[in-house]
Amino acid sequence: MRILFLTHAFNSLTQRLFVELTALGHEISIEFDINDSVSVEAVELFRPHLVLAPYLRRAIPETIWRRHVCLIAHPGIVGDRGPSALDWAILNGEAEWGVTVLQAEAEMDAGPVWASETFPMRVAKKSSLYRNEVTEAAVRAVRAALERLPDYRAGTWKPAPLDQSAARGQRRPLMRQADRAIDWSRDDTATVLARLNCGDGFPGVRDSLFGQPCHLYNARAHAATGAPGELLGRVGEGVVRATLDGAVWIGHARTPAMGIKLPVAGVFPEAGALLEMEALPNFSPEIRYEESAGVGYLHFDFYNGAMSTAACQHLLAAYEAATQRPTKVIVLLGGEDFFSNGLDLNRIEAAESPSDESWRNINAMDDLCRAILNSSRHLTISALRGNAGAGGAFLALAADRVWARRGVILNPHYKNMGNLYGSEYWSYLLPRRVGVERAAEIMRGRLPLGAEAAANMGFLDAVFGDHLPAFEAEARTRAEALAVATDFEARLQAKCRRRAEDEASKALDAYRAEELKHMQRNFYGFDPSYHVARHHFVRKTPHSWTPRHLAIHRELGWVVPDAEGAE
Ligand code: COA
Repeated sequence: MRILFLTHAFNSLTQRLFVELTALGHEISIEFDINDSVSVEAVELFRPHLVLAPYLRRAIPETIWRRHVCLIAHPGIVGDRGPSALDWAILNGEAEWGVTVLQAEAEMDAGPVWASETFPMRVAKKSSLYRNEVTEAAVRAVRAALERLPDYRAGTWKPAPLDQSAARGQRRPLMRQADRAIDWSRDDTATVLARLNCGDGFPGVRDSLFGQPCHLYNARAHAATGAPGELLGRVGEGVVRATLDGAVWIGHARTPAMGIKLPVAGVFPEAGALLEMEALPNFSPEIRYEESAGVGYLHFDFYNGAMSTAACQHLLAAYEAATQRPTKVIVLLGGEDFFSNGLDLNRIEAAESPSDESWRNINAMDDLCRAILNSSRHLTISALRGNAGAGGAFLALAADRVWARRGVILNPHYKNMGNLYGSEYWSYLLPRRVGVERAAEIMRGRLPLGAEAAANMGFLDAVFGDHLPAFEAEARTRAEALAVATDFEARLQAKCRRRAEDEASKALDAYRAEELKHMQRNFYGFDPSYHVARHHFVRKTPHSWTPRHLAIHRELGWVVPDAEGAE
């Protein structure tokens, strides 16, 4: 089928559905929901058999839904309506939530139900629930809905009209800042976390720090006590604030002056004066190392997967410390939501000289990749629990083996960021795994890659685990088996031999120098595309058109199909 995605953005859920439905053999084109006339034009050009709205902020125009089957994936249980579905579910402490696929009609989110799925809720940020539970449920529900389409067309099946009196879900309004507000003198840790989690990543909770108004993000429970509301200290680049019964660590804030999310210590110079609560001289609170059965596990859970210069340096120190341990295997686990998304573009944007900070950041990233590539005493594994993009995807390839959870989406390319060339030794790592032609295709195509497809082309070595606990458990079993394998020494020697041969034919330094020459031009050259693209990405400038590589119906040479797609 030709399926047109009408969506506010090509976000994680949209990318996952794009990958899944493409793998099922459907032809997908994408149009950003910019205005009604653009949507109508897209339908006329693509003549879809189905319109799917994975992430919509406005109603679908009547001229479209009257003539085409339009299915909307709503992140709420049956009967739930309104723009803040997940926000309310978190704030209200729902034990179970879901996704409903419904048909677009006059009232938003109130059309007949094609499919629905539920999942148990977890204490987590809204964005994390969206990227994991909501996405998995949406994939199942959309697949179920598509399977019903032939019967619907044949007239042998009809979607159930929404029975609002019987449904558990209700219409809820847009959540306002007053609904999210924290009362620091009365709210316990669970309540404070629910308020912060339900607004993370957008819009955050309006509050204040050091007497200045700001929005807060990236909170975790923290083991400390103090007078409710009091700032107890600084840990890493975040601050610890007492609640009624404990404390929370707050990692990021956005002030009206800065306008973008940054680590608290980067926003408020006052934070620097607060005493470090925990003595972690080399590492940051986002980095954790553990060991079992001859395997070292390195967790690095940077907010949004963004790795600043300091983050890369701290991780390098942690990695080097791990290589000194009497273990045989090191597993790079990244974070639960993202493995890594490469350079920290927010920090770069906020720096006095974004060019200089970009340069420092990419060099720190390259230093980290080089250390992993040159490990001679350990076999190394990247175990991708979450998605990886740009430099973060190539950081993963620096390890000897790369495994991923089944639902992971990779964006192993840089060009979407203003034609950035990229580094992280990609020009060595990518062709080595997928061949020169495929490497060029991936870089040029700028499309998301599903884990299964990535494994088929050799980008990944293994894909397993339908959800996070299953993936992590199996990754641990496999890593521990590798550590005790009778041929461990032979494998280690083979890896070192191959590295030495590769080095002799072309040194890592040469790859790096070539890549950085292009990057220097991106950062300091005449063409400001990278700076412009980063500015729009970080400031979340609304799209004014859909990129051509996504909207295939707008490609030169697109031939409008005959009218079979119309109802
Ligand atoms: N630096 C800073 N913030 C980043 C980031 C980065 N490298 N990558 C992602 N983010 C932030 C986004 O701004 C967004 O912020 P929010 O919390 O305010 O919503 C959040 O992470 C989630 O990103 P989003 O784009 O919504 O996630 P996605 O899963 O839909 O898309 C990517 C993933 C990787 C395709 C997309 O985030 C991306 O293109 N990132 C930039 C990668 C890059 O070019 N890095 C620099 C070169 S190495």
